[in-house]
Amino acid sequence: MLRQTVYKINNKEISVAVGSNLANLLTDFLSKKRHGKLFLLSNETVFPLWGNKIYKVLKDKFGVVGKIIVADGEQYKNFEIIESILKQLILEGADRTSILITIGGGVITDIGGFAASIFLRGIPVIHYPTTLLAQVDAAIGGKTGVDFYGFKNMVGSFYQPDAIFCDTETLSTLAAGQMSNGMAEIIKYALIGNEEIYKILKNNNSDSIAKASIIEDLIWKSMDTKFNIVAADEKESGKRILLNFGHTFGHAVESASRFSLLHGQAIAIGMAFAYFYSEMRGYATKIRFEQVNRLIGRYGLKTTVPHSIKINDIFTFMAKDKKRSHGNLRFIFAKNMGVAVEKAYDVKDAIDKFMDMG
Ligand code: NAD
Ligand code: GLY
Repeated sequence: MLRQTVYKINNKEISVAVGSNLANLLTDFLSKKRHGKLFLLSNETVFPLWGNKIYKVLKDKFGVVGKIIVADGEQYKNFEIIESILKQLILEGADRTSILITIGGGVITDIGGFAASIFLRGIPVIHYPTTLLAQVDAAIGGKTGVDFYGFKNMVGSFYQPDAIFCDTETLSTLAAGQMSNGMAEIIKYALIGNEEIYKILKNNNSDSIAKASIIEDLIWKSMDTKFNIVAADEKESGKRILLNFGHTFGHAVESASRFSLLHGQAIAIGMAFAYFYSEMRGYATKIRFEQVNRLIGRYGLKTTVPHSIKINDIFTFMAKDKKRSHGNLRFIFAKNMGVAVEKAYDVKDAIDKFMDMG
């Protein structure tokens, strides 16, 4: 079932749609807008699977469409890729009336959003995210950017897209593990307070959510959760920090695994740790910690740190996080339902104990 709405973030209207096979809807949306040459940005994996089909539909309707295909992988989320995108835009005659349409996972929506935000000081961007993670998280909220100097997402901008089209059909070709990767962020929305998502997750498992009506509902509700938080605090000076629940420890585990763990797999461990640590500090009960572990486990995600990961590496990467937050690690503690943000206390001791559970 197709669902559509328009969100507003600081006066910028963002049209969103969740459903299956949305190439024609994208064409209708573009037909109602005045625009110059259109450009598609995708990667070598996604373009043949989904991009080409959309390219043909747009070409039939609008004539010439530019095509920018980049290499696939987080290792290409860097300045060189941005430069090459900007060069291609210039060489192929893009101007202020052009629109960039990103088709791919979070890497593509992040670099596409960033390139669009700086080309001619900003041209419109539309996201057509094709991973579950990008549909429920990366494409929403306007954070764009690249990795730089060994740090993830170190350079970027806040830049809202004109529209987001979440086509659930594209999820059918995802590699193993990529659905769980996105599920971790959906579980996060449940744990930071969306009771409707929590109920759906409690009554389902990784097999049953594959049903179109359930996954569409989860994407729709996740999108709504994130949009409402970002609308209240676009630049992360307050409430938006809640979206980092499970991410302080999770990012450190992801880096310490040398990225052998997918982001969502690491965040799932980060959320389990948040409950463990919260129980130690008296915010949440042990029963709640166990309940949450079972919930995460139902979606193909682990809740303990793999033995191959060294505790000292986790400390090193957490210290980097600390540097970024001016020496005071603000930690998002889990309450039985909802969360609380506070300075982290004795976090090393908590990590030590948590590692023993693996
Ligand atoms: P990704 O973009 O690397 O996609 C994962 C893999 O799936 C890639 O190989 C990709 O080519 C492939 N793929 C994409 N769609 C496919 C499809 N439909 N069928 C088959 N293969 C497909 O990873 P991701 O998990 O989507 O995104 C991770 C990135 O998103 C990270 O760089 C992260 O920093 C960023 N991110 C940004 C935000 C934000 O708010 N801007 C939030 C979360 C994550
Ligand atoms: N993924 C965290 C945020 O968008 O703020």
